[in-house]
Amino acid sequence: MIIICSENGEVGIRTAMEVLKGGGSALDAVEAGIRLVEANAEDHSVGLGGYPNLLGTVELDASIMDGSTRMSGAIGALKGFAHPISIARAVLEKLPHVLLVAEGAERFAQEMGFDEREMLTEAAAVAWREKLLRVMDATTLAELPERQDLWRWVRLSSDPQRSGGTTNFIALDNAGNLASGVSTSGWFAKYPGRLGDSPIIGAGNYADSRHGAATCTGMGEMAIRAGTARSAILYLQQGATPEEAGRRVMEDLDTLGGPYLSGMNVLILDAQGRHAGMTSHVEGRNYLVLTDIMTVPLKLPRTYIPTRQHWQET
Ligand code: GLY
Repeated sequence: MIIICSENGEVGIRTAMEVLKGGGSALDAVEAGIRLVEANAEDHSVGLGGYPNLLGTVELDASIMDGSTRMSGAIGALKGFAHPISIARAVLEKLPHVLLVAEGAERFAQEMGFDEREMLTEAAAVAWREKLLRVMDATTLAELPERQDLWRWVRLSSDPQRSGGTTNFIALDNAGNLASGVSTSGWFAKYPGRLGDSPIIGAGNYADSRHGAATCTGMGEMAIRAGTARSAILYLQQGATPEEAGRRVMEDLDTLGGPYLSGMNVLILDAQGRHAGMTSHVEGRNYLVLTDIMTVPLKLPRTYIPTRQHWQET
């Protein structure tokens, strides 16, 4: 049994392993681990305390995938609920659908009895106001909800260096099944309704117990365009090791064109329990690994594979 996660998963990885040791499934472990990251108000990229969109509203994306059946559940642009990963799991279990967004996702969450709450913390609200006041005056900020030119401001407000964040968990259980999950508040000051890669199966998340599972954090638009998580598993299927598969998806990302290119982080765990972490952001990023015979998670360096990054205002 093994769990790997992004570094911000430290608050949840031990609990996730306890779930596996107690006989829970990989899907149970992934959900349990991510719920603790979502509850951590100090993490401004996930759940409670996540930084809001351009209008100051926290919109959350999440997905979960069961590698044994490849059944998946995802929600996007969800407002006012504490645990998007559990709502994504309910989509997987209760509906014939894979992805619900915005009002539909909120309606479903209400029907399923999930806890509603304000997800914008005081600290995140202050950070939002300070960030926007660096590029606009107070009158413009107050008028934003009625303005018809949000598209101009999002280019100023969205900072490619802040497009990271997000939490990734992948688990391999005693039965040999893999599951993967991703949860995020997305870009700080994103355009309302923007979805990243986290709720897009095949982009930010993919699990297939025959081969492996992969998850992403970073500039979600790039993982959507390159089909990064699904590609990683296809490379495993073709015989690559996790390290080789990770290098190949980073090479694919490096061939993308266009004015907006930023960093990506990828985690891969194969069906044999081998793993790799990649980053194109900066050297020195890590990921965590915990097996059933370890007492504390091991912090491992991600392989740094620089890809072209630029941000050109048009
Ligand atoms: N990878 C998270 C996002 O782009 O929203």
